Amino acid sequence: MQPAPTRRAGPLKASGIATAHVLLFTPVVVVFVLVVVSSVLTVVWVGVLLLLAVLPLSRLVADLHRTMAATVLGEPVPSPYLPVPPGPLRGLRARALDPATWRDLLWMMWAMSGGFVLSLLVVVKMLGVITLPLWWYAAVPLMRARSLIDRAILSPGRTEQLERRVHDLTASRAVVVDHSAAELRRIERDLHDGPQARLAAVSLSLGLADDLFETDPDAARRLINEARGTSSTALGELRDVVRGIHPPVLADRGLTGAVSALALDMAVPVELALDVPGRLPAPVESAVYFAVAECLANTAKHAGAGQSWVTLRYDGAVLRAEVGDDGRGGADPRSGSGLPGVAARLAAFDGILSVSSPTGGPTVVSWEVPCASSSPKTTRS
Ligand SMILES: Nc1ncnc2c1ncn2[C@@H]1O[C@H](COP(=O)(O)OP(=O)(O)OP(=O)(O)O)[C@@H](O)[C@H]1O
Ligand SMILES: [Mg+2]
Repeated sequence: MQPAPTRRAGPLKASGIATAHVLLFTPVVVVFVLVVVSSVLTVVWVGVLLLLAVLPLSRLVADLHRTMAATVLGEPVPSPYLPVPPGPLRGLRARALDPATWRDLLWMMWAMSGGFVLSLLVVVKMLGVITLPLWWYAAVPLMRARSLIDRAILSPGRTEQLERRVHDLTASRAVVVDHSAAELRRIERDLHDGPQARLAAVSLSLGLADDLFETDPDAARRLINEARGTSSTALGELRDVVRGIHPPVLADRGLTGAVSALALDMAVPVELALDVPGRLPAPVESAVYFAVAECLANTAKHAGAGQSWVTLRYDGAVLRAEVGDDGRGGADPRSGSGLPGVAARLAAFDGILSVSSPTGGPTVVSWEVPCASSSPKTTRS
């Protein structure tokens, strides 16, 4: 993903990009000719080999121009390509069948003709003393015109957008199904190792006590006391399991209340900025709550931090959250199961998680979840 440029280019930057366009004219021509020639040569095998090398090159050239158009327009120009599967032949097939590849060719024709003329006009005006004022006023409009056309051809079309969406949904569904199965296994294991084992012990103690009542009432009483202790432990463990499925505090006090309760349990001071008016859909609240809980648990376990913070902001369409700490940094979602679990839960709601944690800190885990509010109740804290 390219970073989102925030400001449009001025005359100087626009001219720099025009110069780059002019310098890249020859590589564009060469890549275009190579793609056309190797496509024709696919009737004999050598074309396939050529295409293997040339198609990635054509994507590189197009991506470079996407970045330049994004700089001129001050808005990102997304890449439209579908994911390429591993393996040279499968990869080549996927690239050849991707409509974006063929639109790149169309774009090259534009870049070698009208687009080139626009960029050249800017460069030529910049070089003459008489044309300098003209250059100052015309550079930006000319380069914007070129970049708008570049963007129109190089951005994903509606079909690509839908295909990509289907691909993303299929991937996130697979992750969610995996995650749900893992959750079920965890709950099953927690029940099996905790309450189930304790209740078996209670039943055993009560059975023994029943046998001993006539002959040794004291021993029977001891066993009953023991059984009582074990049953309260089982109850505590059952509560923990239930809390892990849908925390009662979330149902009672909503997201902001539940997050405040999490912060109170932390040994490190947690600064809260929670602005979520009303209630969000229960599954979203649950996913966000568990995400905050995991990040705060990570802060306590790994960060060695002196301060942490949680912000939640809901603007009516998107919930934005951030959990940070001033600890040692080095959080890496690839090395544990907590952060990937959070990402998987959020992905089910089209949520996107990002982790910034340079060595030495600070660690900031942030995410955005698009969602509609489910009630007008106002809860601010
Ligand atoms: N706030 C943090 N500060 C420093 N390091 C962190 C922080 N959060 C996570 N990490 C590092 O990133 C790794 C991955 O975190 P993750 O939550 O995925 O796994 P975990 O906490 O080790 O295990 P689990 O969450 O499955 O019990 C951690 O092992 C830890 O080394
Ligand atoms: Mg963790």
